[in-house]
Amino acid sequence: MSTSVEIRKLTTPQELFEAAAEEVVHTANQAVAERGRFTVALAGGSTPRNLYNLLATNARTSLPWDRMFFFWSDERHVPPTHPDSNYRMADEAMLSKIPVPASNVFRVPTENPDAPAAAAAYEQTLRKFFSLQPGQFPRFDLILLGMGPDGHTASLFPETPALRENSRVVVANWVEKLKASRITFTLPVINAARNVAFLVSGVDKAPALHAALEGDAPGEQYPAKLVRPSDGKLIWFVDRAAASQLTK
Ligand code: 6PG
Repeated sequence: MSTSVEIRKLTTPQELFEAAAEEVVHTANQAVAERGRFTVALAGGSTPRNLYNLLATNARTSLPWDRMFFFWSDERHVPPTHPDSNYRMADEAMLSKIPVPASNVFRVPTENPDAPAAAAAYEQTLRKFFSLQPGQFPRFDLILLGMGPDGHTASLFPETPALRENSRVVVANWVEKLKASRITFTLPVINAARNVAFLVSGVDKAPALHAALEGDAPGEQYPAKLVRPSDGKLIWFVDRAAASQLTK
């Protein structure tokens, strides 16, 4: 069991997305070569859209799309057609443009008005896909994550109950400041992955990035800090603006 952590600082957002796309292509082909398939959990928010665009265009011929299986590390509790839907963003930016079988795409069933029930249903989908025994967590080949200006990642927000969940795979997390529920992977799932990659761009993320990588505040306050694969690789793809407060 070993953990490696790397911080890749790129000058511009475009360079960040190109470097991340290279990493996805490498990890995907390696996974298919070793295990016959590539399981990836997509990040939401706005930052990954340009990465997904790149994968569907420049990297299109370099990826084994029919052996790739798509999940989401978190989702907003809105229908898949809603402008805030992470599924919709990924579909528009990538999934609708590539030759991936619909049966390889596993979105969160957010049309279920009951967020805890939607989370439980998604957990069952993952348990079935990964043939999990009770107490086991899925081991993704790659989990993509973003980070908010408050240090949240996936939908693991500071001081929220989901941060302390250590037996469930997926939970609904009420986020008071958003007055909304989110559906999110739990930390044990994220930290069971073979590879985790953060995409962090923009000066508004600089204080939280400093806190997550160099600060001594507890992880409860900066959840991105709690991401540490127990037997895998963690890469932070950051641009110069986001890294502007890093000292080391
Ligand atoms: C979400 C995300 C969330 C996101 C951060 C950063 O559903 O919003 O999964 O964790 O990665 O909020 O969002 P931006 O990329 O839009 O800054």
